Order: sequence, then structure tokens, then C-alpha cells
Amino acid sequence: MIPFILTVFLLTAPAANAAGDPPDTMSERVKSCTICHGESGRAEQHVYYPRIGGKPVGYLYNQLRNFRDGRRQYQPMAILLENMSDDYLMDIARYFSAQALSVYEPELHSLQSEERELAETLIFSGDPNRNIPACSDCHGRALMGKAPFIPGLLGLPRAYLSAQFGSWRNGGLARGQISDCMSEIAEKLTDQEINAIAKWLSIQTVSGNPELPGNLSPGLTQRCSSIVQMEIES
Ligand code: HEC
Ligand code: HEC
Repeated sequence: MIPFILTVFLLTAPAANAAGDPPDTMSERVKSCTICHGESGRAEQHVYYPRIGGKPVGYLYNQLRNFRDGRRQYQPMAILLENMSDDYLMDIARYFSAQALSVYEPELHSLQSEERELAETLIFSGDPNRNIPACSDCHGRALMGKAPFIPGLLGLPRAYLSAQFGSWRNGGLARGQISDCMSEIAEKLTDQEINAIAKWLSIQTVSGNPELPGNLSPGLTQRCSSIVQMEIES
């Protein structure tokens, strides 16, 4: 508790404690984040900003460190995070992870039946011939993620999903330097497959919760070893 309080004082402008100011709570301090990401439960829908409420804590923490340290690039966030300590990023990750999943209306895209079939096969069965595991093996049967470091795939805008695959395939230009498992998978998928998957995911209704940890096969854990490692280090 004491280190937490110290961090808070170091990072808060002194004026914030003056009489009449809003109470110094975590929800006040993350206002700079919620202008884009939306307040929990009342998230405004945006074509690109991802929802972050209710995501696995280890995943959020890893992403915040990635943005701060330039392994994942998005300038407006890098500036906000640049002077924040690991401990403080963990506090932020815990705060958002503890929020209810943000409300999100499925997007409206029309899907041809072949596209639907293609997406569902890859998502739930993968393609053993090309050594592509099913997305649901790691992201959970409900595709809502697995604690503590695998995010869910529902409730994300199609434009955001496509952009993530684009950066993984670009050899980690904007994302993926440490995300060995997703880069490897993204490189094996065709544009048509990524397009079908992103459309399929963005039109689903968000329901269910992240699965508990502990049921990833050793082969899958090995694929994502750098991410598992980050978790252990923290
Ligand atoms: C100017 C708008 C904006 C602000 C302010 C902002 N973000 Fe973001 N955030 C984004 C966008 C856009 C992305 C996706 C970036 C990308 O991958 O291209 C993102 C991605 C994220 C992710 C990764 C989500 C995922 O599913 O991978 C997390 C976590 C996050 N932001 C947390 C925060 C926190 C915490 C703050 C406040 C300190 C913050 N953001 C402030 C726009 C913003
Ligand atoms: C071997 C395990 C594994 C498999 C299989 C897998 N993923 Fe992932 N995925 C991960 C991990 C781990 C992360 C978190 C990456 C990070 O921390 O940077 C992730 C992240 C993601 C994200 C980022 C979500 C966000 O909020 O930004 C998307 C999108 C994604 N995966 C889509 C897929 C799709 C689609 C498939 C199937 C074609 C798939 N994944 C298969 C392990 C996997």
C-alpha cells in the first residue's frame, strides 16, 4: 500500500490536492485515457479505439509497457505514459481489468456465406496443413480471452482488428516485436482470410468472460514464450 501511495504523489500535480478539487481517485486520474477509450459501461463506439475495460490484467500491463517503451507505436499514448513507472502502469492495468466489460454494439457488415465459413473454420479449427492453430485454442472457446495475458477478440472494431494484423505482418513495425505468436500466425494468413476473420469477429455480440489461466497446451505456451516471460518477470 505504501509504495502505491508514494507513486500516486509522485505522479500527481501538487495542485490536485487543493481544496475544492475533485477527489484524487483512480477514476479521476485515468480521465486522460477515458476520453478516447470511454468510461466503463458508457463507452462511445469509435471506428478505431479499442475497448479496454475488463481485459486480462497481464495483457493490459504488457501493452502499456509496450506503448511506453516503443515496442508498440501510438504517439498520443506514448506521450501520456512516458514518465510512468512499471508499478503505476500495473495499477492502471488493475483498474481497467476490474471494470465491467465495456458495452459494445456489434458492427454491421455483410458477410458472404463462403466468407463466414472461411472465418469460422480458421477461428475454431485452424488449418493444420499450414500449422495454424485455431484462434479459440488460445483466445478461449467464447473468444473472450484467457487470464492473465491473452485478450478477447470480440467487441473490437473491424478497422482496429485489420490494423493489428497489418502491423504484425509488417515485421513488428507498429506492433509485434515481442508478439512472436501473433506475428507468426498473421504471416501465414492471406488478405482474404484476415478480411473475413476481422469482419466475422466485429459483427459478433460480446458475451461471456475471459477464461481462467492454466489450460494452454505446452506447445501453445511455447509459441508465446516471450509474452509468458514478460508476465513472469513482472
Ligand atoms: C488519443 C486517444 C487515446 C488516448 C488519450 C489513450 N489511448 Fe489507449 N489506445 C488508443 C488507440 C488508437 C489504441 C490502438 C493503438 C494501435 O494499436 O494502433 C490504443 C490502445 C490501448 C491499449 C491496448 C488495447 C488492446 O486491446 O490491445 C491499452 C491497454 C490502452 N490503449 C490504454 C490506455 C491508457 C491506460 C491510457 C491513459 C494513460 C490511454 N490508453 C490513452 C487511443 C488512446
Ligand atoms: C498460440 C496462441 C494464440 C493463437 C493460436 C492466436 N492468438 Fe491471438 N493473441 C495471442 C496472444 C498471446 C496475444 C497477446 C499479444 C500481445 O501481448 O502482444 C494475442 C493477441 C491477439 C489480438 C490483439 C487483441 C487486442 O485487443 O488488441 C488479436 C486481434 C488476435 N490475437 C487475433 C487472433 C486471431 C484472429 C487468431 C486466429 C487466426 C489468433 N489470434 C490466434 C495468442 C494467440
